[in-house]
Amino acid sequence: MPITTCIFDAYGTLFDVASAARTAAEEPGRERLKAVWTEIAEDWRQKQLQYTWLRAITGDYTPFWEVTKDGLDWALERQGLHDDPELRERLLALYWELTPFREVPMMLAKLKAAGKTCAILSNGNKDMLDGAVDSAGIGEYLDAVLSVEEVGIFKPSAKVYDMVGAHFGTRPEEVMFVSSNGWDAAGAAGYGFETFWVNRKGEPVDRLPARPQHVLESLDSLPDLAR
Ligand code: LAC
Repeated sequence: MPITTCIFDAYGTLFDVASAARTAAEEPGRERLKAVWTEIAEDWRQKQLQYTWLRAITGDYTPFWEVTKDGLDWALERQGLHDDPELRERLLALYWELTPFREVPMMLAKLKAAGKTCAILSNGNKDMLDGAVDSAGIGEYLDAVLSVEEVGIFKPSAKVYDMVGAHFGTRPEEVMFVSSNGWDAAGAAGYGFETFWVNRKGEPVDRLPARPQHVLESLDSLPDLAR
């Protein structure tokens, strides 16, 4: 079946989540952060994701912004930087204007020119996502920004992937689902989407019940693959 609709994960796929810590580390007076920003970025992301999975299992949903703050607090404390509230506020502010990956605007422009419907489906709160989309200047290419807030659970719950069909009236097999998160790609493939895993770091595939049909190094080739 031809692909009509291209659905993108947001964080890590369109937006570089490490850019918040990297940008702050380059600012004057941030010597302590400069020494450990990569560890902070990694811990922040891993804890943020772990908290989404754990909260989904225990039925303790809270907006993604809350787990984003909780993950950062864990990461800062691990590095002994939890005594710097100004740094915390700066890192959180930067999360609303994450840098998009280089190829994102052109890739979306090509998909739109080819007549595809394009949207984000993300764990993020709607207001966080709108902030990142505005800051990256990609709003004109998106037909919708779908947030799990509507269903009150995180990926990879099928209730989240159901939002695509509910919004666009599509069947799973006409949807190209794109994520850099291996576990999200596995969930989407199991759901029935034609799934593209963007494996920027050359990681092993996740050992989960389903595997993505396609593995890419970047988003550059997507417009050709969607034809
Ligand atoms: C998202 C997270 C998983 O955007 O990156 O949904």
